[in-house]
Amino acid sequence: MFEHLIKRAGIVIEALPYLIKFYGKTIVIKYGGAAMKDPELKKSVIQDIVFLKYVGMNPIIVHGGGPEINKYLIKQGIEPVFVGGYRVTDAATLKVVEKVLGGKINSEIVSMIKKLGGKAKGFWGKKGKVIKAFKYYKKDEHGNKIDLGFTGQVAGVRYRYLNKWMKLGYIPVLTSIGVGKSGKTYNINADKAAAAIASYLKAAKLVLLTDVRGVLDKDGKLVSEINAYKAQKLMKAGVISGGMIPKVKSSLYAIKKGVGNVHIIDGRVPHALLLELFTDFGIGTMVVK
Ligand SMILES: Nc1ncnc2c1ncn2[C@@H]1O[C@H](COP(=O)(O)OP(=O)(O)OP(=O)(O)O)[C@@H](O)[C@H]1O
Ligand SMILES: [Mg+2]
Repeated sequence: MFEHLIKRAGIVIEALPYLIKFYGKTIVIKYGGAAMKDPELKKSVIQDIVFLKYVGMNPIIVHGGGPEINKYLIKQGIEPVFVGGYRVTDAATLKVVEKVLGGKINSEIVSMIKKLGGKAKGFWGKKGKVIKAFKYYKKDEHGNKIDLGFTGQVAGVRYRYLNKWMKLGYIPVLTSIGVGKSGKTYNINADKAAAAIASYLKAAKLVLLTDVRGVLDKDGKLVSEINAYKAQKLMKAGVISGGMIPKVKSSLYAIKKGVGNVHIIDGRVPHALLLELFTDFGIGTMVVK
């Protein structure tokens, strides 16, 4: 008569090897703006993260918010501009980025974690000065600098400070807005920020949740594993484009810097994070050296 309950217990115990493997380990989760559109899904993502914390891992969230920023920009009559997947950030755009990413999305995630029983602490820009930044110049094919305005690059991360909060039981929620030496703020691509944070924290895993199944090939088929060589080829051919360029580049950077595993997975799948962490069934794209 308890059969269905015994079955359930069996499912729970299947997680044991993964719990042992990741106990006390840092897991950086890049939560893409593109994957936060559905409120139900949003709840399941945050639930998974609170779950990870309470089974003894150290999850940390770095979030994006591209679609929401674009919506606000268009409302104000500003056309969003991207070069090679990077947002061109003029002063007016930076204001919107700070308002939407820092003001709105960050606090929404923090309050959702609290509502679901976790402890969370939001950091962005001057709040905690967790990400130090400097101006980022992209280079064109001739090596000439392209000015992207207040678009920044990570200069450093206050990882000891983050570790302190995590040890106190908090889930840090980071917006990818960094602070320069002069106190100027910079908008940083959230994938790049997540990869840098994962490297500084020596994370066991970096998971990038997005709104596609992973990296897709020219026929739209999922590439289950990608290395630097394959990525270069797909970028050159234009198969990897837009926001997937900084995502793949950042993933490769993190792997090179010693992050244990890097996965680009579909944030639209309910409990995608649990599937990734507690099963051998590799969903999405695994990035390797
Ligand atoms: N080869 C490819 N495989 C999969 N997606 C690709 C590919 N090339 C380009 N893309 C685009 O990359 C997008 C994902 O990057 P995007 O920056 O839009 O989302 P995100 O990083 O999850 O969110 P945010 O930038 O708001 O944090 C996909 O929605 C897809 O349109
Ligand atoms: Mg992106």
